[in-house]
Amino acid sequence: MEYKLEIASKLAAVTGLEVSQVESLIEIPPQLSMGDYAFPCFVLAKTLHKAPPMIANEIAGSGELKIEGVSVSCAGPYINFSISRDILAQSVIGDILKSGDGYGKSDMGDGKTVIVEYSSPNIAKPFHVGHAFTTILGNSIARIYTKLGYNVQRFNHLGDYGTQFGKLITAYRLWGDEAALASDPITELLRIYVKFHEEAKNDPSLEDKARENFRKLEEGSEAEVELWQRFRDLSLEVFKKTYDRMGVDFDNFNGESFYSSRIPKVVDTLKEKNLLEESEGAQVVMLEDCGLPPCIVLKSDGTTIYASRDLAAAIYRYENYKFDKNIYVVGLPQQLHFKQVFAVLKKMGYEFADNCVHVGFGLVKFKDKVFSTREGNIVLLDDLLNKTVEKTCEIIRNNSLARGGDMSEEQIRQIAEKVGIGAVIYTYLKSGREKDIVFDWDEMLDFEGDTAPYLIYTYARTRSILRKAAEQGIAVASADKLGVLAGDDEYAVIRSLADFKDSVKKAAASYEPFMISRQISLIARNYNRFYNNSSILNAETEELVSARLALCEAVCSVLKSGLELLGIDVVEKM
Ligand code: ARG
Repeated sequence: MEYKLEIASKLAAVTGLEVSQVESLIEIPPQLSMGDYAFPCFVLAKTLHKAPPMIANEIAGSGELKIEGVSVSCAGPYINFSISRDILAQSVIGDILKSGDGYGKSDMGDGKTVIVEYSSPNIAKPFHVGHAFTTILGNSIARIYTKLGYNVQRFNHLGDYGTQFGKLITAYRLWGDEAALASDPITELLRIYVKFHEEAKNDPSLEDKARENFRKLEEGSEAEVELWQRFRDLSLEVFKKTYDRMGVDFDNFNGESFYSSRIPKVVDTLKEKNLLEESEGAQVVMLEDCGLPPCIVLKSDGTTIYASRDLAAAIYRYENYKFDKNIYVVGLPQQLHFKQVFAVLKKMGYEFADNCVHVGFGLVKFKDKVFSTREGNIVLLDDLLNKTVEKTCEIIRNNSLARGGDMSEEQIRQIAEKVGIGAVIYTYLKSGREKDIVFDWDEMLDFEGDTAPYLIYTYARTRSILRKAAEQGIAVASADKLGVLAGDDEYAVIRSLADFKDSVKKAAASYEPFMISRQISLIARNYNRFYNNSSILNAETEELVSARLALCEAVCSVLKSGLELLGIDVVEKM
């Protein structure tokens, strides 16, 4: 039984509120002793013209909230609900073991489409740690919405267009090295791009050539399109290696170029609706009434711009996917850009503008400033991953040696790849997304800290207990035999498991995967306290051994699901 829902329905019947409203108002009391759920009566004060504590008292005493196994009490303005421990154990663990991988699934998204746009790196530019943030955050948001039953479409809005391609074409014709492009495309493209800017300081005609070449590209001129296509294909190949390594994918790689052919139609509509004005030669939409600066749609030379491509893209997405939500996972510095784009869409009469969401995030910093990269200032994701995996290898190798060397070098490498990448992903997702991230290897690889290695280790060690039990032929208890799990430590674990489902929904609503990372971290902490204080395989009675094994299995299942929603793989041994 879903106790929260049951409680919400009873409360809704008594108060006349909607079940969903009650559900969202129900809180989890800060201390276990205060019960499992609490309903604050403040909302009822206005309609009932009574003080909240009085209302709480009356409702709690009315006898209309009876649910078997649940006791009701009141504390000030709150009605508290305590589910008896044995019943909670049976229902929570039973539910988890029954649903397996499907625990936390929901049908709330049935029939609804959500577009999640993330990663969106720029062709011919290195993939740096900032692009990793959108990639990791977006991947997790996509997984979370999928879990909740939505039809999720993953978009990669590649930066594959714009005046910089005019520069690249110009530079490549002057200084490009064919062989270098084939062997290490991004480094070569970056080299000629940097050279272009150096040379253009002394020779401004280069800028004119670049503009001319971009114009030709936009007009579909064969030679320019061919070069551009090559730059794009080669860069994408490099990006795809990184995506594979991170376990990230996409349904759609339509970049900015794809939308460029759809801009004339957007411009026509803007003209029809009298929204386009000329300003210093450029065509803009004034947004004064929205408190925003004008949005440039066409530059003075008639070429398109970033914002116009986003207008065309949003309209394309709506026309082809009829999305319920169109989510852009892009850094906070682009907040104004998205406000402008959404405001223009709204002015054009597109109601779907209200369902477009910019999900911003903070900056990436390093505690260890000496972390140098091939590219100078920016830190490449590949370098960050390699260094983290290397350090993880060392730790795992040492741990194995301390156990008498029970792992081969190949095993160590395989495990370190997963755990190291997991550590990076977790660092991105362990706090609210708008906070800046500071990478500190000692912290992110701490096996006792709030880290992926800690969570994965907890999982792997618990799996090994379960394997051992299976070898010894000890059965895992069925749901009806779990009433014995009523100790304080066990209860704390079960309570935190019970809140996992809610954390998934909250993460979706706020686009904050950290609601999930925080929950699984709490589960692992509670579980480890239980593990340190009690025996599992040597518990007092056979019944207790089997029941505790069921608890272990439930913890493994939820840790694994939670990590998966973040984009992190577990390992069975570590
Ligand atoms: N390529 C851009 C960048 O690297 C991000 C694109 C964001 N998405 C969008 N629809 N504008 O900054």
